[in-house]
Amino acid sequence: MIRIVMSGAGNMGRQIMAAAEAADDLELVGALDGLAEDGVIDINGRQIPLRSSLNALAEWSPDVVIDFSNAEWTEQLVPAAVVAGVRPVIGTSGLSDDAITSAEQQVNEAGLGGVLAANFALGAVLMMHLANIAAPLFDSVDIIEQHHDGKVDAPSGTAVATAQSMRAARDTDFSRNTAERHNVDGYDSRGAALGGASLHSVRLPGLVAHQVIIFGGADETLTIRHDSMSRASFIPEILRAVRAAPQLDHLVIGLDRLLGLRTD
Ligand SMILES: NC(=O)c1ccc[n+]([C@@H]2O[C@H](COP(=O)([O-])OP(=O)(O)OC[C@H]3O[C@@H](n4cnc5c(N)ncnc54)[C@H](O)[C@@H]3O)[C@@H](O)[C@H]2O)c1
Repeated sequence: MIRIVMSGAGNMGRQIMAAAEAADDLELVGALDGLAEDGVIDINGRQIPLRSSLNALAEWSPDVVIDFSNAEWTEQLVPAAVVAGVRPVIGTSGLSDDAITSAEQQVNEAGLGGVLAANFALGAVLMMHLANIAAPLFDSVDIIEQHHDGKVDAPSGTAVATAQSMRAARDTDFSRNTAERHNVDGYDSRGAALGGASLHSVRLPGLVAHQVIIFGGADETLTIRHDSMSRASFIPEILRAVRAAPQLDHLVIGLDRLLGLRTD
C-alpha cells in the first residue's frame, strides 16, 4: 500500500484523489491546499482531512505527495516534503528553471526519489517523441494546435516545446515557406515561426487540447496528431509516477524519462 497526500485540491487534485481512492494499492491520507480552510473534503463519499499548513505533511508522513497546485506553493512544498522524507510527484505548471533545479538538488541530496513532469498525457509525450524522430529527416513542418476558447496564451506551451525539441533534433532550421503577399492586411497567415517550423493556433468552443504536426517531404507528408478529451487523460501516467516513486533514487524530470523514451 502506498500512502499518499494530495497537494492542491483544485480540478486536477479532486480527479487525482478520486482515482487514488478507487485504486486498491493507494491509500489517500489527506489533502493539503494553501488557500483552503481546514476541514474535510468529500472524495467518492469518504471524508478526507483537508489542511492548509505544510506541517500536516510531517504529521501524516505519507510515502508520496502529489502536487498539482501553484508554482509558489510547490517551491515551499518541496523542502517540506524532503525534510519529512516524503517523495514528490509534481505536475504543477509554471515552475522556473531555477525552481526545477533546486527541487532536483533537494530530492537527490536527500536520497529520495520522485517525478516532476510538465505534461502527464501519454499521447502528448509520445507525439513529441515521434516528432523528434521525424524532425531530422523531413525539411518542412507546420504545427496546428487547437484549444478551447478559454485559453489565454498562444501558441500553446506544448506547441512551442514541440518546435523547440524538433529544432534541437536537427542541425539547421526547417525550411519555411513565407508568403510573398498577405491577403488580409497586417496579418501573416503562415503563423508564428520557431526554428523554421510554422505554428498556428485555433481557439474554438467545443475543443479541449489538440495538436497536429504535419511534416512535408518529396511528394509525401507525415501527420502526427494528438487529442486530449479531458483532464482524465493525465490520470494514468500520474498514477504510474506515484507507483514508481518509492523505487526511485532521484527526481526524474519528464514523463519521457520515466517511460524510458529518453535516457539522458
Ligand atoms: N503536468 C500536467 O500534465 C498537468 C496537467 C493538468 C494541470 N497541470 C497543472 O496543475 C496545476 C493545477 O491545475 P488545476 O486545473 O487543478 O488548477 P486549479 O486552479 O483547479 O487548482 C489549483 C489548486 O492550487 C491551489 N493554489 C493556487 N494558488 C495557490 C497558492 N499560491 N498557494 C497554495 N495553493 C494554491 C488552489 O487553492 C487550488 O486548489 C496547474 O499548474 C496546471 O497547469 C499540469
